[in-house]
Amino acid sequence: MTSSMRIILVGPPGAGKGTQAKRLVERLGIPHISTGDMLRAARAAGTELGVRAGELMDKGQLVPDEVVIGIVEERINQEDAKTGFVLDGFPRTLPQARALDAALLRNSQPLDAVVQIDVDDKVLEHRVTGRRSDKDGNIYHTEFNPPPTGLEVIQRKDDTAEAIKSRLEKYWSETSPIIPFYEKKGIIKKIDGLRQPDEVTYDIIAALS
Ligand code: AP5
Repeated sequence: MTSSMRIILVGPPGAGKGTQAKRLVERLGIPHISTGDMLRAARAAGTELGVRAGELMDKGQLVPDEVVIGIVEERINQEDAKTGFVLDGFPRTLPQARALDAALLRNSQPLDAVVQIDVDDKVLEHRVTGRRSDKDGNIYHTEFNPPPTGLEVIQRKDDTAEAIKSRLEKYWSETSPIIPFYEKKGIIKKIDGLRQPDEVTYDIIAALS
């Protein structure tokens, strides 16, 4: 099924944005646009931007607005994103939200929904420090969703107890103010992210339909 939906997933680090984005894009046939993944790819490619971004990411700091806004504007103007997308990890500040609004207005592409995945801060450190991923970007958890035996997996450099503290601080100080911004537009859908992944997917699909 191909949909023309434009969706943002917002939530603290470890809320399940990446996990749910993968399920939604399969179901809706629209691209997954993750600024975290794009920045990690730039870092792996060794570009100047990627190296600079990587240093900030490892410390749990945000990459400057102008950098990520530029990356996202370029990506949403690509052909496959013309009919829709799932944005994961962007916008993460009010200036990013305003820049996205302006870019979508220029293209006459309104947002359909902002899915807010709520998870208590107390469980996030355990989720994030147990996360592993494979070379295809599939996400696992050492306890909740262990990778198949023999599969080579990696742990992200920012998935440490120390980095998660500053990532959470950034979420509450810089990112959470975008929620009232979208509430005023009437497009926020609040989802309980503490349920099983399948139940969370079910709730998101129900909220979008
Ligand atoms: P990014 O890659 O976007 O990371 P994040 O927002 O911190 O989110 P995570 O990827 O950690 O978590 P998630 O919500 O996707 O959870 P997941 O599904 O993996 O950003 C990384 C960094 O890049 C930032 O800190 C910043 O430096 C930079 N950056 C990126 N975008 C930026 C921007 N716009 N502006 C500035 N800087 C930017 O799940 C986590 C774990 O929990 C997994 O192990 C999973 O298996 C498990 N899990 C998932 N759902 C459930 C469930 N329902 N029950 C039990 N376990 C679950």
